[in-house]
Amino acid sequence: MSLLQRDRELIVSNEFVKEFDFNEIENFVKNASKNLFISHKFKNNPNKTLVQPRGGFPTQEKMFALYEQFKSTGVDILPMTIDSNTRLNDYASAKKMLQLSIDEQKDFLNGYPLISHGYKTAREMITHFDTPISLRHGTPDARLLVDMAIASGAFEIEGGPITYILPYSKNFPQDKAFLYWKHVEKLCAKYSTLNEPINRESFGPLTATLVPPVITIVIQIAEMLLSLEEGVKSFSVSFAQTGSLNQDLVMGNVIKRKAKEYAAKIGCEDATINLVYHQWMGSFPRDKEKSDSLINTGAMIAKMVGANKIITKTRAEAFGIPTKEENGLAVSNVQYTLNMLNGLPTFKDEEEEENLERQIDEVFETIFNDPADTLWRKIFNSIKNGIIDVPYSPHIINNNELITVRDESKNIRIYKRGKVPISDKSFKYEQSKLKGKVDKDSVVNQIIHDIGIML
Ligand code: 5AD
Repeated sequence: MSLLQRDRELIVSNEFVKEFDFNEIENFVKNASKNLFISHKFKNNPNKTLVQPRGGFPTQEKMFALYEQFKSTGVDILPMTIDSNTRLNDYASAKKMLQLSIDEQKDFLNGYPLISHGYKTAREMITHFDTPISLRHGTPDARLLVDMAIASGAFEIEGGPITYILPYSKNFPQDKAFLYWKHVEKLCAKYSTLNEPINRESFGPLTATLVPPVITIVIQIAEMLLSLEEGVKSFSVSFAQTGSLNQDLVMGNVIKRKAKEYAAKIGCEDATINLVYHQWMGSFPRDKEKSDSLINTGAMIAKMVGANKIITKTRAEAFGIPTKEENGLAVSNVQYTLNMLNGLPTFKDEEEEENLERQIDEVFETIFNDPADTLWRKIFNSIKNGIIDVPYSPHIINNNELITVRDESKNIRIYKRGKVPISDKSFKYEQSKLKGKVDKDSVVNQIIHDIGIML
């Protein structure tokens, strides 16, 4: 028996897992409808920006109603957002709160507790809708959750060992996360050989708080490489609306080029790489008309950067979890906007793109030169050393020396580079865009202003 299989058997021997029949699941995946695979949908719709909301409710009944609502509003990809207890492997609390939600007809969980429902129940719903499902979670140790998701028919898995740790966790051990996600990659690679590929997606928004493009793209490519080296064949890199149209366009061009280039460097040019764009992930205005405007602009930019998929927000974002109606409205409005945008010209800003590409290469050179023997250890050391530094990460391992502010055109610029190894030339370029803008005594005020830019 392979090591992977031995680990899986241990992981599913958990009192909260009702059943897990490996052979039956393998057969299901082998014979599953092609319509359930987002990798298949990407292949057949190369010029469409597919629309995917977020969403998850505790009970089967409300989840079903949510999916019906989405289908009636023109959704392309359905979400399965998992509740926080399940994300933290606290299946006992998830189970209790699910029961309470059923008994009291009120939501006591902020998402769908997949482990508590079990894969047979989830599969019934997923095969009924016959639409690709994307697993959205934020789980540091997602080994059981991902096995359960694939068994249910959810063939896209979001997350990764960096993007689901540094923005989400204070002290989950980063080295353990790398090993747990290695297991997830192996699982996805294994299942990818049975039918269409399982698509993996990285979570580019990170803390969604003044993250400079170089950090986002380095982390996107790092997670992509860790996934491809385990045999994953379909991967989506992503980033979120920055607040500057120009910076979004620059990032879109650069991330597509660099992801391909680095995949080829490790001999994985055969993998399909997709681009996902997140509508604004920072704090949202409470004014719903302004929210609509922000959401529409995001839809337009997604099309301009040539995203294969857009993740939508709703006008209820500032107030809590959206109702199914609010969420469905966002889907139909975004489809409406996207449908208007045909024959867009291509955009290019050579100076900005060159600067960003150079920064990415500079950081990767340092990562690859780390003396550790494996890629995950090189990346792990780079996080420890502050070479990868995510602004506003709550995690104890994060260096927090990198400081960013917005320039006159609202582009996010590096004000202090900390230990991020961008060259003097690259740093000077960043500084040149901030000339006279940042006053040492008021930098904190400026940062607060720049974070709240959409309010
Ligand atoms: N339903 C709908 N949207 C959700 N989000 C998180 N949980 C849910 C849910 N259960 C969205 C919110 C949040 C983003 C990260 O995900 O918009 O800001």
